[in-house]
Amino acid sequence: MPQARLIDGKAIAAALRSEIAAEVAGIRAASGKVPGLHVVLVGDDPASRVYVASKEKLAVEVGMNSVAHRLPAETTQAELLAKLAELNADDTVDGILVQLPLPKHLDTADVIDAIDPAKDVDGLHPLNAGRLAGGKIAPEQLLVPCTPLGSMLLLKSVLPALSGLEAVVIGRSELVGRPVAQLLLQADCTVTIAHSRTRDLASVVRRADIVVAAVGRPGFVRGEWIKPGATVIDVGINRLPDGKLTGDVAFAEAVEIAGAITPVPGGVGPMTIACLLRNTLTSFKARRGG
Ligand code: GUN
Repeated sequence: MPQARLIDGKAIAAALRSEIAAEVAGIRAASGKVPGLHVVLVGDDPASRVYVASKEKLAVEVGMNSVAHRLPAETTQAELLAKLAELNADDTVDGILVQLPLPKHLDTADVIDAIDPAKDVDGLHPLNAGRLAGGKIAPEQLLVPCTPLGSMLLLKSVLPALSGLEAVVIGRSELVGRPVAQLLLQADCTVTIAHSRTRDLASVVRRADIVVAAVGRPGFVRGEWIKPGATVIDVGINRLPDGKLTGDVAFAEAVEIAGAITPVPGGVGPMTIACLLRNTLTSFKARRGG
């Protein structure tokens, strides 16, 4: 059996970051300004600390002003909202990201609502989510959640013409499943959102030209569910007891059947931060006319 083409997210993300770096350098040369990305981390969840450190480092690498605000786990809702109000009011701040999950005593929805939608580089504010769902504005002009945006770029790298294709998204989260479904719809795919209550998931997946797996369960999507030649985007990043990372798709099975597939690690993962930087640049240009 021929093996599926591997979609190299690491290389595609690196290329996107160099394009962004070139654009930032041009803006700096012309105006002396650079986009500012501010990441807010509350508490000391180990995985979140690692993500925030990578965001900080890669933002510096593309020439942005990168600031991480590390707040103690016992930060109150009022203190966090005050920090966001300060960042909203600062004109040098183009992108604000509050790292999730927040400690349990904080109200995540109220925190996201408090971010200026023009600086919401996570694309999670209801105004940005609503604009995406409205379908009237080109996604390139919107602040779209980073992992869905990165998934679409990977998909388009192997399938330039998406119109009319059957897409099945597995998972309905606010962060991935719902926005990726909206982006596929905007690209004229026929979209099904499957989830934990979907009946006969295998047969739903079997009709898909495009499968996006975002369920958070290692190896959940089996190779025999996949239509031969389909493109598989695996959004899952699951840590196994032995410390290895693995996706939501049973890769060894799926690679024998799919036409193209993203590996884990090295697929969607690296795209998320690259798209965060892209959103920060988008926000800078919209706000400060760079
Ligand atoms: N935690 C895991 N993924 C994300 C993300 O995309 N945005 C935020 N804010 N937190 C996350």
